[in-house]
Amino acid sequence: MFFILLGAPGAGKGTQADIIVKEMSLPHVASGDLFRHALKNGTELGKQAESYMKGGKLVPDEITIKMILERIAQPDCKNGCVFDGFPRTIEQAKALDAALEKQGKSIEEAIYIEVPSEVLLDRLTGRWVCRTCQSPYHQKNSPPRKEGVCDKCSGELYQRADDTEVTIKERLKVYFAQTMPLLDYYEKKDRLFKVNGNQHIDSVGKDIVKFLKGLKQKK
Ligand code: AP5
Ligand code: MG
Ligand code: ZN
Repeated sequence: MFFILLGAPGAGKGTQADIIVKEMSLPHVASGDLFRHALKNGTELGKQAESYMKGGKLVPDEITIKMILERIAQPDCKNGCVFDGFPRTIEQAKALDAALEKQGKSIEEAIYIEVPSEVLLDRLTGRWVCRTCQSPYHQKNSPPRKEGVCDKCSGELYQRADDTEVTIKERLKVYFAQTMPLLDYYEKKDRLFKVNGNQHIDSVGKDIVKFLKGLKQKK
């Protein structure tokens, strides 16, 4: 089963992905994490993505689609995955649908984490991410047990280079212009589940798990 997590920067896609991958035993495919990994390793892909990410712009569709299709061709995605941050444009959504259709597969559901834009800035400026396992924390909302250290893997926590006020504002602008139309795209296919993302992390997770359990029962 292929799931998509939709939502603005800071909506909680990475946070909720952890919960869904456990519930559904599926791999987590996060385009942002893949780009940051490539950047850290100094690969050609990383070099291509760098300036776009720094400026809060989208990496061009051609590069992004190629990266994701290569990722889901790997054996661990045979039975599905949880997409986080992809697709982000109609072009990407269409390319994904076409690739899955070729294998007789399709998107099970797009889960839209709905959060009012006023809270996003605070979530992102207060975020700390694990360098090793990418788990997100928040200095007020979900602090690690030990400052600067990941609860899950003891990795070092850092603040993302694009989590500055100026870049966050650009990312939000890009989100409203280029990614919001995807809500309509999946709604028309009757594949959109909306969850209130403006509640405690655990409550958002509970609502999503309840929905997933319902889906499993229908199967
Ligand atoms: P990406 O890494 O995908 O970033 P993003 O979409 O901006 O989303 P974030 O990771 O910032 O937010 P999130 O929703 O995962 O929130 P999180 O769970 O961490 O993309 C980065 C860049 O890569 C893009 O700008 C672009 O350049 C490029 N890129 C990636 N994908 C691309 C694509 N498909 N096409 C083209 N370019 C692409 O939570 C945020 C914070 O809030 C955390 O601190 C968390 O602890 C806290 N929090 C979470 N939930 C709650 C809650 N319910 N209550 C209180 N606090 C909460
Ligand atoms: Mg994320
Ligand atoms: Zn970690």
